[in-house]
Amino acid sequence: MRIVSGIQPTGNLHLGNYLGAIRNWVKMQDDMAAQGGQSLYFLADLHAISMPHDPAELAANTREMVAALVACGIDPDRSILFNQAQVPQHAELQWLLNGTARMGWLNRMTQFKDKSGKNREGASVALFTYPVLQAADVLLYQATHVPVGEDQKQHLELARDIAQKFNNDFATEENPVFTLPDPIIPPEAARIMSLRNGTAKMSKSDPSDMSRINLTDDADTIMQKIKKAKTDPEPLPSEKAGLEGRAEAANLVGIYAVMAGTTVEAVLSEFGGEGFGKFKPALGELLVSKLAPINHRFVELRQDRPALDAILKKGAEKARALAVPTLDRTYDALGLVRG
Ligand code: TRP
Repeated sequence: MRIVSGIQPTGNLHLGNYLGAIRNWVKMQDDMAAQGGQSLYFLADLHAISMPHDPAELAANTREMVAALVACGIDPDRSILFNQAQVPQHAELQWLLNGTARMGWLNRMTQFKDKSGKNREGASVALFTYPVLQAADVLLYQATHVPVGEDQKQHLELARDIAQKFNNDFATEENPVFTLPDPIIPPEAARIMSLRNGTAKMSKSDPSDMSRINLTDDADTIMQKIKKAKTDPEPLPSEKAGLEGRAEAANLVGIYAVMAGTTVEAVLSEFGGEGFGKFKPALGELLVSKLAPINHRFVELRQDRPALDAILKKGAEKARALAVPTLDRTYDALGLVRG
């Protein structure tokens, strides 16, 4: 098994980012290490230029994200951790795959429709061909499995379609150029909501810092944010059904359950009948105990630019070595002469 996945570099990393993609990546890294498989994780900085962006911010976010990934448990000695920009084979393969991807396929991509909105004519060409770069990202390494969120399933199906058509058109069944990757969609991708509004996702762009637990928050800040989190006056129910229509209560119980590695039912059987005066301190302490080691490594590493750049450089070297054979075969298969 070889798993490959990417994440766009963003700043202001919070609990939602950790419990979303990052924690799952760490788990898969450990699974791969145990099974003799391989994990490659990268910062999708090339994808980030498909939307208007600030160059200084992109560079800062790329390094910040590396610090977060390592602090959360991605081990650069066990996973290959890199950014696309240092592995030019991604962009090269994308161009080669542009010959295979069809306009009609890309026209059906819902992310392009969502992100371009009413202004399709003003969207960048990169936003339109974004899914072809994403296909290159995984096909370049002969990925067998790609962990992604539900929203990326369509892009992964496109990668399979591109691989299949390319193999059909330019290779033989016995000797295909590309492996068709399977998605791995985490079963209960934890949806972490704002601490101020249980119906809005926890987000880096929420103007209220009290709405989220940042990876940079110290123990006191975490406790304070949990104590001030919005709730209702009712005690906690002892059954899951009792959380219906109580978005804030459901969110806090959900956070407790994922952090404790247990189920919502188990949390409610422990805290059912208790008020938030009792539940909140317990949740705060749980968060502090789990996040303190991450916070500690993160604040230290994020200011160590030479260390971060060294991690990315080393990761890119390993990634390039894995990428070159597939890229060479792709040029060959297409009849492109390179001496
Ligand atoms: N598009 C993905 C996202 O926004 C990020 C991504 C880029 C990715 N390339 C990838 C994910 C390759 C998986 C595999 O979440």
